[in-house]
Amino acid sequence: MQRSLSGITNTEAEQDGDPALFARIAADLEETGFSINPASLATSLVDSLHSHVVSMNEAKFSAAGVGRGGNFVRSQFVRTDEICWIEGDSPAGRNWLNWARALQKYLNEKLLLGLFSFESHFSHYGTGDYYKRHKDAFRGEANRVLSLVLYLNPGWTSEDGGELVIYKNDDDLDGIRVTPLLGSLVVFLSEEFPHEVLPAARDRYAIAGWYRVNSSVFDKVDPPL
Ligand code: OGA
Ligand code: MN
Repeated sequence: MQRSLSGITNTEAEQDGDPALFARIAADLEETGFSINPASLATSLVDSLHSHVVSMNEAKFSAAGVGRGGNFVRSQFVRTDEICWIEGDSPAGRNWLNWARALQKYLNEKLLLGLFSFESHFSHYGTGDYYKRHKDAFRGEANRVLSLVLYLNPGWTSEDGGELVIYKNDDDLDGIRVTPLLGSLVVFLSEEFPHEVLPAARDRYAIAGWYRVNSSVFDKVDPPL
């Protein structure tokens, strides 16, 4: 097994996460509520997720919906991408889930966020696909508290469109643009930031994930039916 300079094996570093990256995410979240990190995770993990998503049978993806449970609707007005939930049935998916668990543990210890569970899916935007401005959670519903997006597109340029735009305030017209380039990781508080995906000019792949708190403490059944 290859050893890095720190003496940590590559596999260990992948699964336990990079302490410097975790510390930066925690500091950014405390300061601004969001964190944008180019070249974030171990290259070997990002590369394996990229190979996996591009080789996945199209049949595994299904049209993305909006809302949960009985409110779930497929609305072309809001979003046109396709998704595939990550359940840990591939080595790349399992390594991703382990990484996400390590970040969860770190943020719970460092920021006392009480993150309780994690869910994530691959997303595929074909040419012209978009996701209109939305929030991932609504205040008081006590569901998703922290959103993650990891991009899986080598060689993405500004001509390829498909940027994520994060708005700092509800009525802002201008936002922070993030290029969905391979290895870039975005983390933000789900209730705080409206965001959108601009139409992509070529196939665009990413993982979107969310940590939840255990909302049964708010006297609701979690997950809601
Ligand atoms: C989402 C989302 C952003 C992106 O899936 O909820 O906002 O850049 N994704 O893919
Ligand atoms: Mn979103």
